[in-house]
Amino acid sequence: MTANQRNIILIGFMGTGKSTVGAALADRLGWRFVDTDELLVAREGKSIPELFEERGERYFRDAETAVLADVLKGTKQVVSTGGGAVLRPENREAMLSGGLVVALTAPAETLLVRLRGDVNRPLLSGDKEERVHRLLAERKNAYDFAPLVIDTSRSNVRETVDTILERAGAAKR
Ligand code: S3P
Repeated sequence: MTANQRNIILIGFMGTGKSTVGAALADRLGWRFVDTDELLVAREGKSIPELFEERGERYFRDAETAVLADVLKGTKQVVSTGGGAVLRPENREAMLSGGLVVALTAPAETLLVRLRGDVNRPLLSGDKEERVHRLLAERKNAYDFAPLVIDTSRSNVRETVDTILERAGAAKR
């Protein structure tokens, strides 16, 4: 990675593999792995469902913006972001100036398999299939600002990391 690629920031819908791929990528690079959701939960001392329930989504989004801004002051990190972090323009700007933004994608059917049984994502409570389809439609182009887009449904984690590293190398030049 070059000096202008201070960090790699993973964005993508819930279930696209940001945390799994991010941890493996960080390991490979010898960089720190930071999951902004985890950091937020540690800072607030409450789970994401608790935060949504007790403080509301607006509070969660403000906390998410603050965590992201703080994390992106650092370097040599692979940063996994929450699926909705891309919705605020200020977050997108912070990501683009903080490093190389990589969008992970997967088809809805794959996401539904990965998210089956999950109870930690308040936006998916109720009819999960309907929620996933509706949010995917609402966020249709939300992840398009990333210069690299990688589909995680066709390869395993190691292969996905290889692809990111190859394409990140190409994106630098
Ligand atoms: C959200 C995604 C979640 C978490 C919160 C809201 C979203 O993160 O930040 O439940 O709006 O897409 P993951 O993408 O890591 O599941």
